[in-house]
Amino acid sequence: MNTTTKVALVTGAGSGIGRALALELQASNFKVYVTVRRQNQLAEQQALGLSPLLLDVNDQNAVHLAISQIEQEQQQLDLLINNAGFGAMGPVLDCSEAELQQQFQTNVFSIVSLTRRCLPLLAKSGGTVANIGSVSADFVTPFAGVYCASKAALHALNTALRLELAPFGIHTVLVQPGAIASSFGNTAISHAEQLLSEQSPWWPLREGIRLRAAASQQKPTPAHQFAHKVVKKLQQNPPPRRIRAGYGSVVLPLLAALLPEFLLDAILRRKFVLPKNGSLKIKSE
Ligand SMILES: NC(=O)c1ccc[n+]([C@@H]2O[C@H](COP(=O)([O-])OP(=O)(O)OC[C@H]3O[C@@H](n4cnc5c(N)ncnc54)[C@H](OP(=O)(O)O)[C@@H]3O)[C@@H](O)[C@H]2O)c1
Repeated sequence: MNTTTKVALVTGAGSGIGRALALELQASNFKVYVTVRRQNQLAEQQALGLSPLLLDVNDQNAVHLAISQIEQEQQQLDLLINNAGFGAMGPVLDCSEAELQQQFQTNVFSIVSLTRRCLPLLAKSGGTVANIGSVSADFVTPFAGVYCASKAALHALNTALRLELAPFGIHTVLVQPGAIASSFGNTAISHAEQLLSEQSPWWPLREGIRLRAAASQQKPTPAHQFAHKVVKKLQQNPPPRRIRAGYGSVVLPLLAALLPEFLLDAILRRKFVLPKNGSLKIKSE
């Protein structure tokens, strides 16, 4: 990376990890473009010295316009951080088709579109694409299946992109956070609450559903600590292929890889208060 004119773009920087990464990059002398979804967040981001763009990552037209603005103002893009995302929590089969689509659209498909649109700028600088994955891609739990699947899909895409972008001199880094303090838990809880219904076969398991939705905020690493570690590593030349940071980011994937499935199941059933196998009945109409 060129150390004097480094330019970064961080999506979903109005809160949590994205905001902390943007501020850390700014402290490391990057010119930082950030994306937010609400008009009233623009002034706040400007006051922080960041360059905000109004963007819903699922709006192709808005993506085109936002990157065109960067192209008009900059010669290159040194770092793209695909961070925007959310966790659709609840039993897999309670999730509607529209909610499934929305989860994958935001956490997976939008990243492909945005990265494609940024390709010429990234190639000019031999830049880096950092995708914010999750321990949840490896450590799959009940009541977060749709979210875990979206992050697992992102991890797979990240691996392919790493190999396909390298010939253009572009690095691709998978950032795998553990539990990080952010608004993620609140959003996850409100999704789970919207899904919870007395009509659901999983209504008796609502305690576990609520526990899972809140799990990321139980012993979270402060976002600024996480961001400090990640930004330092992203500036290495070359950057590492994967950055694990935050509470549980090393241990949880290790447990998932090493423990036999029957043992993992037993641990997860206990943690998320699942009843004995065969103890629930589907009510007939
Ligand atoms: N916190 C954790 O423990 C944890 C762990 C592993 C991975 N992650 C991942 O880290 C990333 C950041 O999450 P966070 O923890 O910082 O949570 P957060 O505070 O809720 O931040 C998520 C950001 O993404 C934005 N966003 C969501 N949907 C969007 C869309 N369609 N278009 C544009 N922006 C959108 C949100 O904007 P609004 O404010 O407008 O909703 C928000 O700024 C996510 O990809 C998440 O999956 C988080």
